[in-house]
Parts: sequence; C-alpha cells; structure tokens
Amino acid sequence: MKGIILAGGSGTRLHPLTQVVSKQLLPVYDKPMIYYPLSVLMMAGIREILIISTPQDLPNFIRLLGDGVQLGIRISYAEQPHPDGLAQAFIIGEEFIEDDDVCLILGDNIFYGAGLQSLLIDARNIVENDKKAVIFGYYVDDPQRYGVAEFDQSGKVLNIEEKPHTPKSNYAVVGLYFYPNSVINIAHQVIPSKRGELEITEVNQAYLVEDNLHMQLLGRGFAWLDTGTHESLSEATEFIKTIEKRTSLKVGCIEEIAFSKGYVKSQELIKSIENKKSPYYDYVKKIISRA
Ligand code: TTP
Repeated sequence: MKGIILAGGSGTRLHPLTQVVSKQLLPVYDKPMIYYPLSVLMMAGIREILIISTPQDLPNFIRLLGDGVQLGIRISYAEQPHPDGLAQAFIIGEEFIEDDDVCLILGDNIFYGAGLQSLLIDARNIVENDKKAVIFGYYVDDPQRYGVAEFDQSGKVLNIEEKPHTPKSNYAVVGLYFYPNSVINIAHQVIPSKRGELEITEVNQAYLVEDNLHMQLLGRGFAWLDTGTHESLSEATEFIKTIEKRTSLKVGCIEEIAFSKGYVKSQELIKSIENKKSPYYDYVKKIISRA
C-alpha cells in the first residue's frame, strides 16, 4: 500500500501565520505538524509516501524530510498548483500509486490513542483483502464544518453529506482514508462541487453506493485534532505537550517509529542525528541507547 500526505491548501484561517509558511510546517509543540500524519502512515507499515503541497511550499518539505532514506522509507513529492480539493490527490498521485492500494491522510490532522496502530493495520487488511474503502468517524460538537455520516438503526452508514446545514449525526469523517486502487478511476469521475473542489465526500459516496464503504468509529480512547484555526492549533500544542510530559514518550516521533518498526538500524539512525542537539533529538538518542 502507498501513502499520500496532502499538505497544500491556502491556510487562510491561520493568516498571517500561514502567509509565508505552509500550515503543515508550523510547530505543534516540539515538531513540525507534518510529522504527525507522517508517523501515522509509518505506523500503518506504509513505506512509500508521496507528499503533495503547493509549488512554493514544496521545497521546504523537501529540505525537512528529503528522500526519507534516513527513516528507512521512500518519500517523493508532487505539486498541487491550486487547492482544487482532496480527491485531486489521487489524480496528482496516479503515477505514484500505480496499481497499488492507497492511504490518504491530511497534513493537518493529528491522531492519538492507544490501539491506533492495530486500527490502522485492520483498515489496511480490509482494503487489501476485501477491496473495500475504510474511513473513520469521530464524534464532534460542530458537525456542520465536516463531512457528516448518517446511520440507520443498525449503525450502517446510509449517507455522507459535505458540510450540511442540518447534520444527520455528530459523526464527522476525519482526514484519514484507505482506498483500493479503484479510487483513481473514481476520482477521475468526480465533478467539481459548487465551491469548485473535487470533494472526497463524492469518492466516499461512490464506495457507499457499491456497498464497499466501511466506516470505523473512533471511540472514547482516541483524540482527533485538526489544526486549522488559531484556537485548535494552540489546543493541539497543549495536548501534545501534556501527553508527552505525563507519559515521558513522544507523539509523532518519526525516528522512533522508524527504529521500533525496524525500518532503520540503530547505527544508521545514530549517524543521521549525531550532530543534532535539541531535547527532541536527545529523546531519540535515549530511545536508541535504551534499546
Ligand atoms: P482545509 O482546512 O479545508 O483548507 P486549508 O488548509 O486551505 O485552510 P483554510 O480553510 O484556512 O484556507 O484543508 C484541509 C487539509 O487539506 C489541509 O491540510 C490542506 C489540505 N488541502 C490540500 O492540500 N489541497 C486541497 O485542495 C484542499 C482543499 C486541502
């Protein structure tokens, strides 16, 4: 399975913060935002990753993450000249995906919770074995801002509406999607919505109509944070800081994940960070020496 991080957009709600810096490179406590979605893909065992961003921001992502070899993964990059919608990721990424299945994660979404790794592996298995799409629902107080699911009595998804005026539930579709390869064809058939975007909700509807959509609800034990406003960005920083202090473990530490999953050997990792000095890298060094 391949992975795509969509890290473009205009970040207008965060201006002036995002006037000259990509939203997904802003700090969330001790690391750039994109480390969090990247760590989710790595935890899902995905090692071939495409980062899509704007032509002006892409060079900074390349400076930060390079080709991924230091993490034992392969990172490539592609431009999205205009924020024409999430479903465009599969068109831009068509050659990268080839005939594989694909997981898309939004570059400004943060996931945290015990059991996240097994949830991701389960989603992967459903896509790879049953060729169904897997999306995730999360209970929110303000569903109007999101794609919202409607359920029948048995909990089966009946419909998904994009930013509805009168939401049929409080379950928002979060920015993490697993699809079989057919998503490329489906994305090509999506026509732009009234706001001019290729909506991911249209892709999900297509799988729903075929009865090939599995929606997994994220329960109490999970936190899903989106970081698109000043308020939510500052809350995310506070959240990560608190969890990291309490547990003495880092959230979204890509070097730790690469090491624990065996993507890199300790000597390679030590070599790649030996000249780096900050509490973040002190943590990585500690993890390696403990092991
Ligand atoms: P949004 O939060 O919907 O948009 P935005 O990031 O441009 O912010 P704002 O509303 O403040 O202008 O986007 C969600 C995520 O998807 C975010 O990480 C940006 C990314 N995105 C793209 O990369 N390309 C796109 O075409 C769109 C619509 C979003």
